[in-house]
This record gives sequence, C-alpha cells and structure tokens, in this order.
Amino acid sequence: MENLSRRKALTLGVALGIVGAAAPVPAWASAGSAAGTGALTGAGAGAAAGPGPEWIWDEAADPLMARMIDGGHVPAINRAWEKWVNNNDPIPGGLPSDFAAYLAQANHLPSWADQAKLQRAADFNRRRDTYLFMLYGLGSGIMSTVIPREAKSVYWSAGGADMQDRAAKTFTFGYDLSQLGAFKPTGQFVVTANKTRVVHAAVRHLLPQSPHWKAVADESIPISAADILVTFHSLGTYVHQKLLEWRIPYPAADQEAFLHMWQVAIHLLGVPYEHIPKTWAEARAQSQQVLTPILTPSTEGIALAEDLLGLTAQIDLGVTRGFLNEFVRYVLSDQVGDWLGLRRDYAAAALVRTAWPAFILFREGLSPVMPGTFYMFDQFIRAIAMLFLNKGSSGTTTPITIPTGNRAG
Ligand code: HEM
Repeated sequence: MENLSRRKALTLGVALGIVGAAAPVPAWASAGSAAGTGALTGAGAGAAAGPGPEWIWDEAADPLMARMIDGGHVPAINRAWEKWVNNNDPIPGGLPSDFAAYLAQANHLPSWADQAKLQRAADFNRRRDTYLFMLYGLGSGIMSTVIPREAKSVYWSAGGADMQDRAAKTFTFGYDLSQLGAFKPTGQFVVTANKTRVVHAAVRHLLPQSPHWKAVADESIPISAADILVTFHSLGTYVHQKLLEWRIPYPAADQEAFLHMWQVAIHLLGVPYEHIPKTWAEARAQSQQVLTPILTPSTEGIALAEDLLGLTAQIDLGVTRGFLNEFVRYVLSDQVGDWLGLRRDYAAAALVRTAWPAFILFREGLSPVMPGTFYMFDQFIRAIAMLFLNKGSSGTTTPITIPTGNRAG
C-alpha cells in the first residue's frame, strides 16, 4: 500500500492531534540531513555529524544478545532475572558473565536525568491516569497497528502469536514508567526499560531469520533508533497533544516534566541523546515528519488491531464493541478506523463525541453537572486497565521475558 501523500498526512496528523492545523515544519528538521535519509535527525547539536538514527541500532546489546541466543543462554537468563525487579536490586546471580557485565553498566540513569522533573512527571501521571490509560491503550496501542514496520515486526515475532500476553507485557512498561518513584532506587522502571532494551536486541537477531518477516519487511534489521523515535511519537507526543486538545489543565512545568520522563525512557532503550527531541515543538515537528506520513494499514496490522480489540470481548467493559470501535475512531480518526475496518456504530459515535468531553469537564471540576454516562466511562476505564494488568486476574504486571524464536506462521 502506498504511503500517504504529504497533504493527506497533514490532514491525518491534525485529526490525530499530532500536528496543529497550521504547524510549520521548522528549519532544523531538514537542515543538515543527508538527502532523504536524515529526516529524523534530532535537534541536538552534532546530530547531523554521525549516522542518522535509521542507521543506529544498539552496539552494546545487539552483539551480546546474538551470542546469548545462539549459545542457548536465554532460558537461564529469563529464569535468573525474574526476581530482578527494583532499580536498586543487585544484578542477579546465575547469568552468563558478559551478560551480567552488560547489565551492570547499562542499568543506571543518564547523568542528565533530573529527579525533580521525573518526580513531577510521576505526580502528573498519577493525577491523570484515567486519560493516560485511554490514550496509551486505545490511542497509541491501536496506532501501533498502522505503523507498518512496528506492526509487521510485532506480528512476526514470538509475541505476535499471543497478543494478550504481549499487550500485558507492554503495559508493564507503561505501568512501571508511570509509578511514583519509578526512576528512584526503589522504583522499577530502570530495570523494566533495560529488560525491554535486551528484548529488542534479541528481536533484531531473531526476526531477520524469519522467512515470513523477510517476505514483508523493507529492511533487514528491525527496531532502529529511528523506529523507536517513531514509536515514542505514537506514545508521548501523541498523548501530550491529545491532553492539550482535550483542554486538560496542563501547566508548562508538567508538560516539560512529561517530556523529560520520555527522554530518559527512550534513552534507556538505547536512543542516543543527540537524536532525542529537546522540546515538545521539536517532537511535534519530528512526529509530523516521521510518523504521520508512514501511517498505513497492513495485513499484519489489521490482524493485530482485531486481536487487541477482540481481547476486550473477553471481559465486560460495560460497553459494546461498537462503542469501543467508536472510541478508537474518536481518538485516532475515521481514516484509521476505516483502514482497520472498524465497524461503524453511529449511535455510539454520537454518544462518545458528546459524553466524553462532558465526562472530562466534570472530572476536571469545570462543570458541576455529572453526566449520566459517568459510571459507564468509569467502568470502561477500569476494565481496560484490569485487562492489561495481568489479563484481568491477579492485578499484578506481567514479567518481561526474552523470546527465543519467532512466530511460527
Ligand atoms: C518488545 C516497548 C519500540 C518491536 C517490547 C517490550 C516492551 C516494548 C515493553 C517487551 C514486552 C514484550 O515482549 O512484548 C517498546 C517501547 C518502544 C518500543 C516503549 C518505544 C518507545 C519498538 C519498535 C518496534 C518494537 C520501534 C519495531 C519497529 C518490538 C517487538 C518486541 C518488542 C517485535 C518483541 C515481542 C516478542 O516478545 O516477540 N517492546 N517498544 N518495539 N518490541 Fe518494543
């Protein structure tokens, strides 16, 4: 399928809330980038000097994980790191020595991490968890299915065969990221991010061996730094923009803290500092360049979206599937809804478009009138959260494990 034309991409960007209607592309975005390839060059000084992020993977973790997989060490690592959870937990015993040495050097915050900002972000996350659940879960989560490289790699990796488990593991990342004290010694996010970085390195070794993935992929090694930045925009940049669009009170210091949290998070995933956007304006401009134009449906993405939305049929969300489809259309545009073949439910569409803003106004204390739909939304949000929290059963998160192979077929 063709990529979107620039005009269509802009329209879609506006609908997704990723770009403002008249947002200009700042000069930095293309300046200094090698023809066609450097579009993702970040704003940091010196970013143009080295290779563009589409040519950066993970020099430290990738060769290590290739060795671990080929040497058959992964099951032992998965067992050994099960109890490795808190940021200040010692590196577990029972790991191959080079793997343990890698973890010891990787498992710390960058020097530029600012605990005060991270704490502020955590506080914001706690106060805004309702909206964050909905936006990350139904917005970013479903958006990932129309990011072709991501959808194809997720579909053809081992986790693609069990989307509920995968969604639960991905949720672990968001959950740990959003906790109060996530980045403190007693928090868990630094460990979770490092486990994720290692899983990505494993995927870079495994996927190129999958005949299915080779048949659909337009590049041999998945999950470049550029890909991670694209995914960051589908998460952080998108959510930030939506919160503004929904007129959630969002002081500048909270916005800055939220960006800082994401900067640290993607750096822990291996993206070099100089390629990470420094302001929301830069992030939006980058997103407009590298995310919206590539959004397009794929066979794999459509199947993943159906899987993800179908999961919800297993529990009572207090709403119909039609309502769910319409909520996704509301947060991601009809264009995306049509691509994914989300069946229309016009009554539910009208309800979402009127009741959700009323729900927000009431929750924010901006309207004294409690909408009749308040409890419906409340139940809906809780059910979505529980669904991802360990498959709706025990209320804990699902441990992240390294895959040893790809999806069979
Ligand atoms: C695995 C998060 C970017 C593809 C994971 C996991 C997490 C995660 C938490 C481990 C849980 C699991 O196994 O499902 C993130 C975050 C990203 C990011 C926060 C960026 C901000 C990407 C990108 C791609 C990708 C850009 C591909 C283009 C995958 C694949 C797996 C994975 C294929 C392995 C699934 C399996 O177990 O088979 N990611 N990811 N991720 N991620 Fe990412």
